[in-house]
Amino acid sequence: EKGGYDHFMLKEIFEQPQTIYDCLRGRLDAVAGTITMSGVQQYAEQIMQANRIIMVACGTSWHSGLVAEYIFEELCRINVEVEYASEFRYRNPVINKGDIIIAISQSGETADTLVAIETAKEKGAIILGVVNVVGSSIARISHAGAYTHAGPEIGVASTKAFTGQLAVLTMIALKVGYMKGTINEARYRQLLNELNEVPEKVAWVLNHHEHIKKIAEKYKDARDFLYLGRGYNFAVALEGALKLKEISYIHAEGYPAAEMKHGPIALVDENLPVVFIATRDAYHEKIVSNMQEIKARKGQVISVITEGDEHSASLSQDVMVIPEADEIVAPLLSVVPLQLLAYYIGVAKGLDVDKPRNLAKSVTVE
Ligand code: M6R
Repeated sequence: EKGGYDHFMLKEIFEQPQTIYDCLRGRLDAVAGTITMSGVQQYAEQIMQANRIIMVACGTSWHSGLVAEYIFEELCRINVEVEYASEFRYRNPVINKGDIIIAISQSGETADTLVAIETAKEKGAIILGVVNVVGSSIARISHAGAYTHAGPEIGVASTKAFTGQLAVLTMIALKVGYMKGTINEARYRQLLNELNEVPEKVAWVLNHHEHIKKIAEKYKDARDFLYLGRGYNFAVALEGALKLKEISYIHAEGYPAAEMKHGPIALVDENLPVVFIATRDAYHEKIVSNMQEIKARKGQVISVITEGDEHSASLSQDVMVIPEADEIVAPLLSVVPLQLLAYYIGVAKGLDVDKPRNLAKSVTVE
């Protein structure tokens, strides 16, 4: 059932070209220039008129909400808030009739997310579910939604569900942005093509797994890791750190790269690996200077960079490469080497990566 792979987690990481393809298939037509999502279309008017969208989720799903915040704000010019379901449900949040809430969940059974949307629904919010498990509680309670179609995810660490969520959320943002006119035809078309190319680019990244395994073996005994990213890749830094914590039990933290100077830089010495998600985007020069700062303090720079970026490579002790891609779709690619890095470190430490200690696949109690 592991399809020849040593672990479900590895199988699920390697399934991503197919699962992302399955998620796009039947929805995105790059030639015709259309995105078909019936659940979203049903509420299209309300979404376009919404003053804000609130994303509610936990863990990895919360990270995809953070990536989506940047994408929605850029493409749709709608204010987005991203909430931890557990905080949102208990603090008497301000919810107005007509607010759009997007609940993101792989299992569709996470207790905090479920109760959060139940409460919001009673107050008149429109609930859209971005869920993987068909017919799950969150899917049923949502007014409408879009499934991620990633197939069963068995490994406790979420991998293919995350990229499925990003693919769905990006399609929703593109559809809404195009309908609203907040992105023009050319940019819309370009991004449809970019999304369409993601499955083959993920396959390209996966082909470099042996190299990532070597990096994992080199750093497996580190006590702590720092993950830094900016913009669309900021939440990828958080996700990379979460994967490492869960699977290898190494303490890891993710930060927006510029926040490093406001505290975490005090941790940097020759024993601290710092993983930069530094793919080429609008703020690339900024993160390059952050890399220089870490290098100057003798931190060990490991970076995820765009193919051919010799300058960033020269600042790094080790690099993991992704193909050239638009910054909006880059997180779908840049997260993959970080999933592999966490996996191979966990395996090198002899740990049970599919069932890390103390963790449950879905947290159905609070
Ligand atoms: O099923 P959900 O997406 O609602 O689960 C949310 C989190 O419990 C989940 O993402 C958790 O953080 C994973 N173990 C992360 O790998």
